[in-house]
Amino acid sequence: MEEKKQDLRVNNHPILKGKSAGDKITITVEGEEIEAYEGEPIAAALLAADITVFRRTKKRQDPRGPFCGIGLCTDCVMKVNGEPNVRTCITPVEDGMVVEKQGDDREVRKNAK
Ligand code: FES
Repeated sequence: MEEKKQDLRVNNHPILKGKSAGDKITITVEGEEIEAYEGEPIAAALLAADITVFRRTKKRQDPRGPFCGIGLCTDCVMKVNGEPNVRTCITPVEDGMVVEKQGDDREVRKNAK
């Protein structure tokens, strides 16, 4: 029996109450469509969809995901609409956005603008 995924968003924040989520939109992550709310960071949408590995380290392929959540550590970087090294914790989702795990550092440097 498949377990129903839990929405991990904070919908009733005790301090931010009254602030409603944006419109429901769709983004594509690694070829699969997931729901997101306009204005939320990409990382929040991915975590709510139970996606926790955003990239892997070059040498050991260790999994990495959001760590600082404020744009400082770069553990959450992904390729967004073809652009590498986008910090997903501080980048808001947009309808139709395409998000992918990026390859190793050599590929990222070669394709960087
Ligand atoms: S989680 Fe640290 S930069 Fe995004």
